[in-house]
Amino acid sequence: MRRPVRVLFVCLGNICRSPTAEGIFRHLVEAAGLSEAIEIDSAGTSAHHVGESPDRRATAEAARRGVRLVGASRQFVRGDFEDFDHLVAMDASNRRNMLGVAGPGDEVERVSMFRDWDPASPEGAEVPDPYYGGDEGFAQVFEICMAASQGLLAHLRETHGL
Ligand code: 4NP
Repeated sequence: MRRPVRVLFVCLGNICRSPTAEGIFRHLVEAAGLSEAIEIDSAGTSAHHVGESPDRRATAEAARRGVRLVGASRQFVRGDFEDFDHLVAMDASNRRNMLGVAGPGDEVERVSMFRDWDPASPEGAEVPDPYYGGDEGFAQVFEICMAASQGLLAHLRETHGL
């Protein structure tokens, strides 16, 4: 079999948005029977929450919708440019930070904005940071990540023949 397509979701802390994106995307990939073909991870550009589990507000919102969030926060590193085919940023600041870590020869065109995979979303739209807000922000993040995940999965299926 061909080697798996590797997808990395990236936010600031790797405890709210990118674990939500990772959980939803994995849920869709499993439902499509593509777990062997697509590998998924997430990371944060900041080291502030390294080792922490996903935020309990994000975990609760996902659980309510039947999606499990797993993993421990890790920091985005330069090697991720080599290890992943798709590096998916939640917002423009994440994207800038990721490009700041890149060095000569790194394929920076692997970086995309997550919402750009949602055909209904305007170009360059962001997944808003819910950390300092209320529970409704987490519900909104879930909806946004679901729509973008569906678009990204459709793209991967088409471009990789899955
Ligand atoms: P995330 O949310 O980037 O979606 O994981 C945040 C988590 C923590 C902080 C900011 C955003 N913080 O400032 O600690």
